[in-house]
Amino acid sequence: MPKFTAVLTHGMVLLALVFPFLLNSSAKHGHSLTRQRQHHVHHQSQSNNTMNKATSNHNLQQAYIAFQAWKRVIYSDPSNITSNWIGPSVCNYTGVYCAPSPNNTKVQVVAGIDLNHADIAGFLPEELGLLSELGLLHLNSNRFCGILPQSFANLTLLFELDLSNNRFVGPFPTVVLSLPSLIYLDLRFNEFEGPLPPELFNKKGLDAVFVNNNRLTSVIPSTLGSSSASVVVFANNKFGGCLPPSIANFANTLEELVLINTSLSGCLPPEVGYLYKLRLLDVSSNNIVGPLPYSLAGLAHLEVLNVAHNMFTGTVPGGICILPNLSNFTYSFNFFCEEEGICMNLTSKGVAFDDRRNCLKDKPLQRSKKECDAVNEHPVDCFDYHCGGSTATAPAPVPLPSPPSS
Ligand SMILES: *[C@@H]1O[C@H](CO)[C@@H](O)[C@H](O)[C@H]1NC(C)=O
Ligand SMILES: *[C@@H]1O[C@H](CO)[C@@H](O)[C@H](O)[C@H]1NC(C)=O
Ligand SMILES: *[C@@H]1O[C@H](CO)[C@@H](O)[C@H](O)[C@H]1NC(C)=O
Ligand SMILES: *[C@@H]1O[C@H](CO)[C@@H](O)[C@H](O)[C@H]1NC(C)=O
Ligand SMILES: *[C@@H]1O[C@H](CO)[C@@H](O)[C@H](O)[C@H]1NC(C)=O
Ligand SMILES: *[C@@H]1O[C@H](CO)[C@@H](O)[C@H](O)[C@H]1NC(C)=O
Ligand SMILES: *[C@@H]1O[C@H](CO)[C@@H](O)[C@H](O)[C@H]1NC(C)=O
Ligand SMILES: *[C@@H]1O[C@H](CO)[C@@H](O)[C@H](O)[C@H]1NC(C)=O
Ligand SMILES: *[C@@H]1O[C@H](CO)[C@@H](O)[C@H](O)[C@H]1NC(C)=O
Repeated sequence: MPKFTAVLTHGMVLLALVFPFLLNSSAKHGHSLTRQRQHHVHHQSQSNNTMNKATSNHNLQQAYIAFQAWKRVIYSDPSNITSNWIGPSVCNYTGVYCAPSPNNTKVQVVAGIDLNHADIAGFLPEELGLLSELGLLHLNSNRFCGILPQSFANLTLLFELDLSNNRFVGPFPTVVLSLPSLIYLDLRFNEFEGPLPPELFNKKGLDAVFVNNNRLTSVIPSTLGSSSASVVVFANNKFGGCLPPSIANFANTLEELVLINTSLSGCLPPEVGYLYKLRLLDVSSNNIVGPLPYSLAGLAHLEVLNVAHNMFTGTVPGGICILPNLSNFTYSFNFFCEEEGICMNLTSKGVAFDDRRNCLKDKPLQRSKKECDAVNEHPVDCFDYHCGGSTATAPAPVPLPSPPSS
């Protein structure tokens, strides 16, 4: 392991040296990984990215085979990005970046591919496995379809894989789980379906996982946890079931947890309050019932909390509202009937908030007494609640009312 870490770090430094501009595309996510890499960019002046002398080592010959195979299965390239993918000088191809091999710095290898926003349509061929020193693959916003080739298992140095906003289909691409160097995995806005493999959350080294806006189904695995991720975005999938208490296993790393519109039901487990590094927690637009756990008051770094559009009942805990860095607390469209302490007047604390459409006395824009009574007459027993996925004995989902037009 120490050896591998050394190689990885080296590779990252080299990539940062040669491709500082590639970093911008991940900077938008603002996670710690990005900051770590930008740290190296200062040394950029020492780099030399004129690669034209590197034409005939084994890696580049293999890369030539890979790119030509890829070009054969590209059916639309409206901006002519790949029109110069001709001849053996692959380092001169648009979107292809070479760097010295981490193994042998005298040898140029294909270290990065950036085709973000190219609007290219096609497949990913098996031959991409020949790019064995690839560190970074950015294919964001294209029309690539089909599945990931098994040969991706060969990409042992790949640390950043962005396939977002394409047309990939089929089950979760488990081949990514075999990539030992993977740090950043972005699969959002595709059509992956079926369950998330539990192994995803045991994978060492993974820092950011984006799987939102796919067709992933089934309960979030109860093995969720043991993860090293700091950012996990699941939003807009049909997971169903309850958030498992094992979420607490993320405590040492997780800073952002986004579960918007994932068909979650049951109560929010108090273990969410153990995620002491969280800055952002968004569980809005689900079918969560029961109280908002007091344990959330332990999230000292919390900045944004959104629990809107659920069926929360009871009290909005004062301990949450006094969190020092809280800047936005949205709890509209629930059935809260009381706000504790400063929660009654978040304006005085300079916190942006939304408490509309609850059952709060003396607050404007609340639900009708009839609506509130219907829910509050049937208190939820969280201990008794069965989390059987989408077929759980959950109350009928609340139809999401539209906000008042004013
Ligand atoms: C970069 O490489 C070219 C060609 O090998 C060489 O002429 C040039 O001096 C190098 N520049 C730096 C800054 O090392
Ligand atoms: C791409 O190439 C085709 C054929 O050479 C040309 O008709 C078209 O205008 C080019 N498109 C762009 C965006 O350069
Ligand atoms: C690669 O590109 C460089 C700079 O644009 C150019 O000078 C060089 O001739 C190209 N190499 C080949 C083999 O096309
Ligand atoms: C994996 O990479 C090596 C080169 O390092 C190559 O010889 C081999 O064919 C590749 N395997 C696949 C499945 O692409
Ligand atoms: C780097 O070198 C080691 C030892 O020679 C070899 O096992 C490994 O596969 C090489 N890595 C790459 C990416 O070529
Ligand atoms: C919620 O997620 C479903 C997929 O599970 C999607 O069809 C729907 O558009 C999402 N709703 C919103 C408001 O994004
Ligand atoms: C609150 O935010 C400030 C400014 O971003 C930061 O310096 C401080 O460490 C944060 N405090 C906590 C408890 O996260
Ligand atoms: C607070 O969060 C809500 C929900 O995410 C968002 O709609 C709103 O714009 C945010 N308000 C501010 C002031 O950032
Ligand atoms: C909220 O607090 C502010 C400032 O402390 C105060 O001016 C305002 O009257 C309070 N509003 C309510 C409804 O108590």
